[in-house]
Amino acid sequence: MQVVLNKVSQTIDWSDIVIASPMSENDLSEAMEIERTTIYSPWSGDMFLNEIERENPGMTVFKVQGQLIGYYCFWKVLDEAHLLSVCLHVDFRDKGLGKFLMDYLENTCQTMGLSRILLEVAKSNHPAIKLYRKCGFVKVGLRKKFYQETGDDAILMEKFIQAASVL
Ligand SMILES: CC(C)(COP(=O)(O)OP(=O)(O)OC[C@H]1O[C@@H](n2cnc3c(N)ncnc32)[C@H](O)[C@@H]1OP(=O)(O)O)[C@@H](O)C(=O)NCCC(=O)NCCS
Repeated sequence: MQVVLNKVSQTIDWSDIVIASPMSENDLSEAMEIERTTIYSPWSGDMFLNEIERENPGMTVFKVQGQLIGYYCFWKVLDEAHLLSVCLHVDFRDKGLGKFLMDYLENTCQTMGLSRILLEVAKSNHPAIKLYRKCGFVKVGLRKKFYQETGDDAILMEKFIQAASVL
């Protein structure tokens, strides 16, 4: 069943509705369908499979009523998280869910004791840049012609985070 989402309030509490879980092979076809709608370095099935097979704790999917509506993938490198991908189903964009996914990512990284999140974003990807700025990321560099498909430059952004309190 496809979830139909009409115009919703930006202040909706997505944590009541969205279920996060590690990605499994059963999620692959829906994830590939979502990937087909993005021009920014779409992932192949093999790229997802690699993350599933190595049980990367950073490969997380988000579902509403069983429908996959988005995912992110990060790699843990020493005490840092390198965000490789974050993507939402087109019907679920611009509703505050990007912020929900990024908050979830940050909480996860805090729990893992990581101290910094790093990401690259295409210079022309205004929704994503707006989202990252809103989440407290700052520009720390530029990678010229980073995206082979489009020739677009990538902005390198970072956010320092504090480990979750154990008390
Ligand atoms: C990037 C992405 C995850 C952002 O998710 P989102 O659902 O738009 O995020 P939010 O709803 O939390 O919106 C974040 C901000 O961007 C704005 N925004 C969303 N879509 C926009 C658009 N098409 N144009 C301009 N601004 C947009 C929102 O209004 C919001 O700003 P606000 O808080 O001032 O209202 C989503 O657009 C996506 O999946 N894109 C395709 C994949 C991709 O580009 N990933 C990033 C790779 S680095």
